[in-house]
Amino acid sequence: MNILGIETSCDDTAAAIVRDGREIVSNIISSQNEFHEKYGGIVPEIASRKHVELILYVIQNALDTAGMTYEGIDVIAVTHRPGLVGSLLIGLSAAKSIAYCHGKPLVGVNHLSGHVYANFLNKPDLDLPHLSLTVSGGHTLVMYVTSPTQYTVLGHTVDDAIGEAYDKVAKFLGLGFPGGPVIDRMAKEGNPNAVEFPSPLIYSKDLNFSFSGLKTAVIRYVTEQKHAEREINYADIVASFQKAAIKVLIKKVLKAAQEKRVSTITLSGGVAANSALRETLIAEARQHGIRVCYPPLVLCTDNGAMIAGVAYHLYQAGVRSGFDLNAYPAIPY
Ligand code: KG4
Ligand code: ZN
Repeated sequence: MNILGIETSCDDTAAAIVRDGREIVSNIISSQNEFHEKYGGIVPEIASRKHVELILYVIQNALDTAGMTYEGIDVIAVTHRPGLVGSLLIGLSAAKSIAYCHGKPLVGVNHLSGHVYANFLNKPDLDLPHLSLTVSGGHTLVMYVTSPTQYTVLGHTVDDAIGEAYDKVAKFLGLGFPGGPVIDRMAKEGNPNAVEFPSPLIYSKDLNFSFSGLKTAVIRYVTEQKHAEREINYADIVASFQKAAIKVLIKKVLKAAQEKRVSTITLSGGVAANSALRETLIAEARQHGIRVCYPPLVLCTDNGAMIAGVAYHLYQAGVRSGFDLNAYPAIPY
């Protein structure tokens, strides 16, 4: 069964074809970074306008790369929650139009389910249950995963997502957008113990996160240093910021893994590309007999393959969406 997966929940315009929920036949992602770069963050209005311009080309590219036409597609899958509502609506309109014109079933998919599924695309025999740490520009979630499509959210951010904090700190320091990869590289040259930044909620009993205060602490520190006309070592600042951010992530995900007695933690989302997060989590998890899995970068970030993969299981379970399928910016945890 071939499923076309369409993903436009944020700023990536993506479409993929996945066979039987596991074989990626094509996976096309058009990044909009260059259009958002000068604003130092994603501008929702620009994101939806660019999706309008790109979506049909990206879908056609997915078909061409697979050497297929709509005739060979069995199901149209699309992300319909959560995300930027204007962005979601573009993918949704495209998916509905294709499903209607070509007489194909439509399946709406939850974006978070997609991130969880990215690890099953990479490793179909993944241990169950396991814990998923999804860290991106929009999410910071610890989820207890019981099947390829079922999970419970154990913890989430109460304000900024971790990727958002990376992007906002980078924007303040004038390091460009997206900030995560730049900070990742630059932090390697800095001293993570140079400045003691807070790791908010690190001592809270729950598994929630908060990154807004950490971002503000970095901004306040740099502003004070500038006013005092002290020399600022940016590599030290970002290394110290990163250490504080990662420390709380790792502490809470390991706590959750021990409470739930799981032996596998998966990573997904754009921040899963972070080398310090990967290295530290792998090393600390190993001490507790827990292994860490993560998919290749192209499956960590937003993509249509993870959406098509989830839709395969939903379709097999009898799920069909109507043409009244709507876009929802948020989902209650
Ligand atoms: O999953 P993603 O592509 O899009 C969504 O936000 O849904 O994630 C993008 C986020 C951005 O905030 C970016 O700065 C961050 O992932 N990111 C990283 C790294 N690469 C991307 N953060 C830290 N280290 C990285 N190497
Ligand atoms: Zn995402």
